Amino acid sequence: MTSLHTYHRGDGLPVVLLHAFPLDHRMWDDVAAALPATRPIHAIDLPGTPGHDDQLPPPSLDTSALRVADALAGAWIERAVVVGLSMGGYVALALAERHPELVAGLGLVDTKSVADTPEAAANRLRIAQEVESAGTVDAVRPMVKALVGETTLAARPEVADRVEAWIGAQPPAGVAWSQRAMATRPDRTRVVADLSVPVTVVVGDEDGLTPLAQAEHMVAASATALLVVVPRAGHLSAVEDPETVADALEELAVRAEQGA
Ligand code: MLT
Repeated sequence: MTSLHTYHRGDGLPVVLLHAFPLDHRMWDDVAAALPATRPIHAIDLPGTPGHDDQLPPPSLDTSALRVADALAGAWIERAVVVGLSMGGYVALALAERHPELVAGLGLVDTKSVADTPEAAANRLRIAQEVESAGTVDAVRPMVKALVGETTLAARPEVADRVEAWIGAQPPAGVAWSQRAMATRPDRTRVVADLSVPVTVVVGDEDGLTPLAQAEHMVAASATALLVVVPRAGHLSAVEDPETVADALEELAVRAEQGA
């Protein structure tokens, strides 16, 4: 079964969107709608999402990256602009490390290239255990308040409601799997530094999970990265301000097409 969800088909360089944790491809719906209809747009449901939570392999974001490579091969996509938000960015970096030939441009949205601290990794393992023993995703529901920025939470609570519904739809086994997979990921700042294709780093100025300093760390490592700061958006800038994020991604896709 393919995990590739196609929003648009067209003749240009495809854009492939990788979602955050604990969400799925639906978090990209509004960005896809805001991108030009002529731009091929696909989003991939990573392991652990609804329908992709059976017989999960040992937890690893490298496995997620290989599943992305398989999904691209299954859709006959040889090269794409790969965009990941947060966990999706960790997977995009793993893909760029293992399959650089697939990556024509890289969009790193509200994410970071560094590994977890030992405390953060231990916290993930604790949450994985809790979700598994409870058999519900209740332990990660409160994340919605950290994912959505304070301006959006105050002015558009319906956005947070939408995100919470997505979280509530995730399978507990998949949530546990992703937490364990993220806990073991290495520092991939070197991957950002080694890429010669265009890179765009996007961050909401209210992102408290992967704040501006993390974005600046990646931009400083890269010879090709541009930084886009999204005003009044939190960690889910793509959900909170899809037009601004879509503009940044289309600009990245054009740079990648020009080989800039
Ligand atoms: C995400 O949005 O994907 C998560 O916040 C990533 C993480 O827990 O590091």
